Amino acid sequence: MLGDDRLRHNIAVRHQSRTGQQVSTDNVSVFSGAQNALFATSLCLLEHGTEVIVPELYYATYPAAVKLSGATMIPLPTDVAKGFQIDIDALEKAITPRTRAILLNSPNNPTGAVYSRKLLMQIVELCRKNRVWIISDEVYAEIAPQDFVSVSSLTGADDITVTISSVSKSHRMTGWRCGWTVSPESLNDQFYNLNMCMAYGLPAFIQDAAAYALEQNEHTAIVVRDKLMRNRDVVKGVLSHMHGAHLYAEGGGMFVYCPVMDSVAAVRVCSVSAYAWMKAPCAGLRREFLLMLKRSLGESLNTLNRITHG
Ligand SMILES: Cc1ncc(COP(=O)(O)O)c(C=O)c1O
Repeated sequence: MLGDDRLRHNIAVRHQSRTGQQVSTDNVSVFSGAQNALFATSLCLLEHGTEVIVPELYYATYPAAVKLSGATMIPLPTDVAKGFQIDIDALEKAITPRTRAILLNSPNNPTGAVYSRKLLMQIVELCRKNRVWIISDEVYAEIAPQDFVSVSSLTGADDITVTISSVSKSHRMTGWRCGWTVSPESLNDQFYNLNMCMAYGLPAFIQDAAAYALEQNEHTAIVVRDKLMRNRDVVKGVLSHMHGAHLYAEGGGMFVYCPVMDSVAAVRVCSVSAYAWMKAPCAGLRREFLLMLKRSLGESLNTLNRITHG
């Protein structure tokens, strides 16, 4: 129900080598993608009357995943000029007696923001003080810049952190729908109960494929990361010549942001996206450049637009 032993073992080994956190199969549950892991975490940790703080901008499914548990999502505005980093004082003010968790996503979708060690340490301290869980969505961790820090690697995070990940980004196995949680054993027991009545586990061939993928050391993730970096350089190279097309928070993930203040700029950015699409050095990834003109990712989005170069 929690997942195949070989897969859970590989996940624990990989997580431990990436973060230094001491974990075993007893801390791991397998779900149908990080999305399902997020939903399961929401159902097991949250309930009506509780609040979850979610820094903006956030992944588009977060509001529904939180709402379905009955909890209330409290968006925490962030500032584009500060690279969408969390203001620790604003976070402290947002915590109330009803706060059950903060949902972090670094590297962030959609902004690409990566939280620093110092910021994460402050967040851990704040969460411990206020008995608040940290839900850390780390689907982009394996393809993050070298200086990426997992919150689970920090002192004091062990018993209050649920790390969520999957093979969707690191191994480009999105369609296989295999993700997981690494959490304290007490929460893992709850995941067992939920999984029993939710999916009863993933098909064996999917778990075998994911277990095999994780055994190929970090090679695949590094290849994926390098291709993304190359694509990003193409987009950067083209935008750097364009007046007003400044890039923000280009730290991680597969996204860059640029401001589009008027329709003329919007048209120009669209054409840049198309140009970058054609110029992408990796033919296999060309079709995956995408320009998003979205307003559903949090109020802090304002006039920014996202270019996916994955
Ligand atoms: C931040 C974030 N979390 C979760 C997911 C879902 O990942 P999965 O395909 O493993 O369900 C995505 C997918 O784009 C994502 O960007």
